[in-house]
Amino acid sequence: MVKTIELVDGVVRMLDQTRLPREVIYVDCTDYHMVAKGIKDLWIRGAPAIGIAASMGIAIGAQEIKASAFDEFMAGLEPVFQTLLATRPTAVNIQWAVERTKKLLAGKKDEPVDSLKSFLIEEANNVLAQDIEINKTIGKWGAQFIKDGDIVITHCNAGSLATGGYGTATGPIRAAVEQGKKIQVIADETRPVLQGCRLTAWELMQDNIPVTLITDNTAGALLRKGEINLAIVGTDRTVANGDVANKIGTYSLAVLCKENSVPFYVAAPLSSIDFSIPSGDFIPIEERGPEEVTHVFGCHIAPEGVKVRNIAFDVTPAKYVTGIITEKGVFRPKDLHKLNERGTDLDSIMMKAE
Ligand code: MRU
Repeated sequence: MVKTIELVDGVVRMLDQTRLPREVIYVDCTDYHMVAKGIKDLWIRGAPAIGIAASMGIAIGAQEIKASAFDEFMAGLEPVFQTLLATRPTAVNIQWAVERTKKLLAGKKDEPVDSLKSFLIEEANNVLAQDIEINKTIGKWGAQFIKDGDIVITHCNAGSLATGGYGTATGPIRAAVEQGKKIQVIADETRPVLQGCRLTAWELMQDNIPVTLITDNTAGALLRKGEINLAIVGTDRTVANGDVANKIGTYSLAVLCKENSVPFYVAAPLSSIDFSIPSGDFIPIEERGPEEVTHVFGCHIAPEGVKVRNIAFDVTPAKYVTGIITEKGVFRPKDLHKLNERGTDLDSIMMKAE
């Protein structure tokens, strides 16, 4: 399985995903500004992966702070937090990384600054290791909904490359394959940045998982013909009522699945669930520059000067979502908020395959 990101000797090494699949090149980010650039320019992308990158960016940013007391150290971290938070707004995972760091450090007010610095390095490595474990657990819970012989459609890339490894949406796919089920994956190419084509198809082929690439507008035809058994996608931010923000085109796929009675699952680690937001209407949605639409690999394909809208994510209302696959189990969107309530008996609300 391909390595997305690691922290080596104070340097954040990330696979430059903008060059895949033509070149496999790792970039060494030597300071937090470079990590932020890597996130903004999509060298690394995918909600969990940018959460990990943010944790690592915080860790290497912390090493540069000249402070002798806790409060001074926290003040020095603030520009690091703000720079990382300003990169990409939709995925909640950068915010998650910042809040997690603040919470952990709050319990260490009496420790010397040097030990806080080493703690943040250790913590960033933990975030990476835990992410892989979480994805394997998501895989285990989700695989029960994939039957031998099934054809699974996915959108964008919620695979190893979008995470520390194993992937969220690809978690159940990989687990089903490990269980010996003979399945096939349909990868939407995912215009305009082509994550499905360049990344999902590539990483599944690396691991010998059968994959067929389609243009985004082919999904409806295949669903109507009955050639797809289920959909599994990732999420950048799923909120309390079960609405799901994910790569643009996810909503269309979900509506097409509902129309054709095909189950639509969302793989969502708890780090991508934002219980503080009541509905998808309040999720900040990133809009990116026009060149991603007007150009393909540097070649201008649109009329010069044409007006463009490049909305990077959409919101799929909970009513289109069959189940949300988390590391705690699989839940109906209407029950999701209960995961954040004390004393919930998870077993009583968990979805199980028939
Ligand atoms: O713009 P991207 O490539 O960062 O968008 C990624 C997605 O939409 C993924 O589906 C999502 O982050 C989930 S990744 C496990």
